[in-house]
Amino acid sequence: MGDKHATERLDAGAEGIARAAALLESGALVALPTETVYGLAGRADRVETVAAIYRAKGRPDFNPLIVHVPDLAAAERIARFDDRARMLADRFWPGPLTLVLPMEGGAPVAAAVTTGLPTVALRCPAHPVMQEVLAAAGVPLAAPSANRSGAVSPTTAGHVLASLDGRIDAVLDGGPCEAGVESTIVAPRAAGWQLLREGPIAREVLVDLLGEPLPISAKRIEAPGQLAQHYSPGKPVRLEARSAGADEFMIGFGGVPGDCSLSPTGDLAEAAARLYECLHLAAASSKAGVAVAPVPDTGIGRAINDRLRRAAA
Ligand code: TXA
Ligand code: MG
Repeated sequence: MGDKHATERLDAGAEGIARAAALLESGALVALPTETVYGLAGRADRVETVAAIYRAKGRPDFNPLIVHVPDLAAAERIARFDDRARMLADRFWPGPLTLVLPMEGGAPVAAAVTTGLPTVALRCPAHPVMQEVLAAAGVPLAAPSANRSGAVSPTTAGHVLASLDGRIDAVLDGGPCEAGVESTIVAPRAAGWQLLREGPIAREVLVDLLGEPLPISAKRIEAPGQLAQHYSPGKPVRLEARSAGADEFMIGFGGVPGDCSLSPTGDLAEAAARLYECLHLAAASSKAGVAVAPVPDTGIGRAINDRLRRAAA
């Protein structure tokens, strides 16, 4: 597990899903599709499995993992929900919202998942294949994005294999991910809320619903998906570009054309879904650098710009 050996390719039919669930139950590492990005899943309650996730990714061990559950009832066995947290779960689960909440005593979660924090990050994904695997495996699954630490996140099974082939037990191919950027992460505080990561559920929507401001966490270590450098294509990235410079791979948007485009029509949802695909293409190209067209900083555009700034850092 996590050591060098062949990675099984599974398709998302009944047989592939049953195989993925059986592998997971036995403590193996399986990359699974979600509506945001592919996750590298393993039993959250097994110390050795969680250690193997960190090892396969080469992840710094101070960066805690998200625990995936099939529904709110399973989540409530792991963390304490107050009325506000339950309201958000009711509204957005299953879906791309992660809640950081106080962990219940005796929760089936290895300490390495939370890196010893008293809180745990929980998410109930909407992807039907992920839902089926969670139901069949019957255990909470820790699943960070299925890429080497610091690299571009995967939105296809091909991206997963490019980064982790031979380092994980299997990948379940559910096609390209729909949202394309990682879940929005929020944490309730004694007073108010904090936004730990921008994502598909836009801050405006949460602020409206909560009726209070949603400051971005200043304590970076609490959301180290927020490490300054992350999502890197491994070459210099220049933002707000109107055209490519010499030896640059151009990622276009709207009226700004490129070697590929986030969205020729300027659609932000499409741009989010294509963001990592374009960064993977830029990484694979023979060009020495990457230039990216400006993207409006509204709605899911903020999550896109957040990832682009880290790719450029
Ligand atoms: O969309 C997603 O959330 C994807 C899919 C696979 O579900 N997963 C994902 O996981 O992005 P990962 O490990 O790449 O990001 C986990 C984020 C990190 O920023 C981490 O610091 C934060 O969650 N996190 C986890 N537990 C936390 C905790 N107890 N307190 C604060 N932040 C936490
Ligand atoms: Mg990640």
